[in-house]
Amino acid sequence: MKKYTITTQYDSHDSLDSLPEKERAVLLLAKKSLENSYSPYSNFKVGAAVLLRNGEMLGGSNYENASYPLCICAEQTVLTTAANLYPGVAPVIIAVAIKNAHQVINRPGLPCGACRQVICETEVKNDQPMKVVLQGETGPIFVFEAGLDLLPLAFDKSFL
Ligand code: THU
Repeated sequence: MKKYTITTQYDSHDSLDSLPEKERAVLLLAKKSLENSYSPYSNFKVGAAVLLRNGEMLGGSNYENASYPLCICAEQTVLTTAANLYPGVAPVIIAVAIKNAHQVINRPGLPCGACRQVICETEVKNDQPMKVVLQGETGPIFVFEAGLDLLPLAFDKSFL
């Protein structure tokens, strides 16, 4: 029997001030985009934004449904929109922002497992790692170098 250890790493910035300009711009767009959230059931607004390799930036938000399992996450909204508006143009940064109607969340909102999988699919498809920038309503900003850092041992097309 062998034991393996998986480690991951990320940077944590105390505020927007120390964040590089591009990461900051994408995070600010994610914060703006969460205002378009349709989330009457959870009252949890999520905004996501991407910077594409061609310099375009796009934002999206979560879109809920009375049939709860049909809720669409913000990350999936923005990644599928980007893929349709700019086919073949890789996202290089994705940022996610959150707002809870009941309490101020002062730690980064972490993408759900399904969104991590979708981020990784986009990275594999484009052969381009995507920086993942996360912040709560306030508090530190986490920056992961790639979606894969949030989903070690990811399932991908190499199995199919
Ligand atoms: N949500 C996202 O938009 N992204 C995530 O990564 C986690 C969850 C949304 C789905 C639902 O509309 C609300 O947050 C509460 O789960």
